[in-house]
Amino acid sequence: MTKITPKSGIMDIALYEGGASHVDGKTNVLKLSSNENPLGASDAAREAFSRAVHDLHRYPSTDHASLRQAIGEAWGLDADRIICGVGSDEVIHMLCQAYAGPKDEVIHTTHGFAMYRISALATGAKPVEVSERDRITDVDAILSACNRRTRLVFIANPNNPTGTMIGLSEVRRLAEGLPQQALLVLDGAYAEYVEGYDAGAALIDERDNVVMTRTFSKIYGLGGMRVGWGYGPRAIIDTLNRIRGPFNLSTAALATAEAAVRDQAWVRRCRTENAKWREWLARTLAEMGVPSDVASANFILARFADASEADACDAHLRGEGIIVRRVAGYKLPHCLRITVGDEASCRRVAHAIGQFKGVR
Ligand SMILES: Cc1ncc(COP(=O)(O)O)c(C=O)c1O
Repeated sequence: MTKITPKSGIMDIALYEGGASHVDGKTNVLKLSSNENPLGASDAAREAFSRAVHDLHRYPSTDHASLRQAIGEAWGLDADRIICGVGSDEVIHMLCQAYAGPKDEVIHTTHGFAMYRISALATGAKPVEVSERDRITDVDAILSACNRRTRLVFIANPNNPTGTMIGLSEVRRLAEGLPQQALLVLDGAYAEYVEGYDAGAALIDERDNVVMTRTFSKIYGLGGMRVGWGYGPRAIIDTLNRIRGPFNLSTAALATAEAAVRDQAWVRRCRTENAKWREWLARTLAEMGVPSDVASANFILARFADASEADACDAHLRGEGIIVRRVAGYKLPHCLRITVGDEASCRRVAHAIGQFKGVR
């Protein structure tokens, strides 16, 4: 028997399952399982990526100054308090690495994003699951779960996979009520989809116990580039920079993300299109007897009568070459998460669900 064993907690990690992208025997597959932007990246971002080919032999910048400056300008944030990571996943991971370890607790919600639990376990900390109320983050339940071992509290706002969100007054109440050693992490992966939402930036500027994580993978259409960022109090960003790999982001990733964030006209266009087709999809499915909560991101969580109906619908969709996301792993076995695609994709998935429900 080998004596080489991983640290405790590691073998409790269930492998993260990404959204599938092919169905055996099917061509013209429609992937609506990973909340990708159906319009893709902006032309400016694509051009920046092409230009990066000339610099493949160069090491990238270690301080990401140019990208941080661009993010700061786009969002009115202090560039010195921004950190960039390999997707927001890396920022989440660095937060756990820096602030949690054995004997510490990391709170996430039952239907919260899977990486919070994975990153907590990877550092040896104990993930603590707190229920939502009707699939909406429950501030009182989170506050009741806090104790002197709580080091991190993760909420995504809007949340994945529920698509719901809470107001900033509720977020503030959560931040104010946390024990003094606990840090609130506001995951804003889908924040750009919400018109006029600052993702908690003003609250972060006022307090020392709140940080946000953000991503280029969703509205910017750069999931393949792997760029995310975090914003928080100076002391926290300084801490994270000490454990960040100096060359974590490639030259191409930095240049592409910078061009993307400078092109806010593209972001506005994607937000408008998404809102239009999200409302259409939610309304059309509701008329077929498939309701969903008010959605704030680029997907809807379609609810079925029970797990077997959701599974049967998923099988029917696959038969039609359409991949949506099963969310039983998020304790929502009666639901399917459907990314809002472009017009043709929304019509195609709605038509197939209509066939399944016998109304088309
Ligand atoms: C809520 C939430 N947070 C974070 C991420 C991670 O995004 P990335 O690592 O691509 O930035 C995702 C991706 O699906 C997400 O849904």
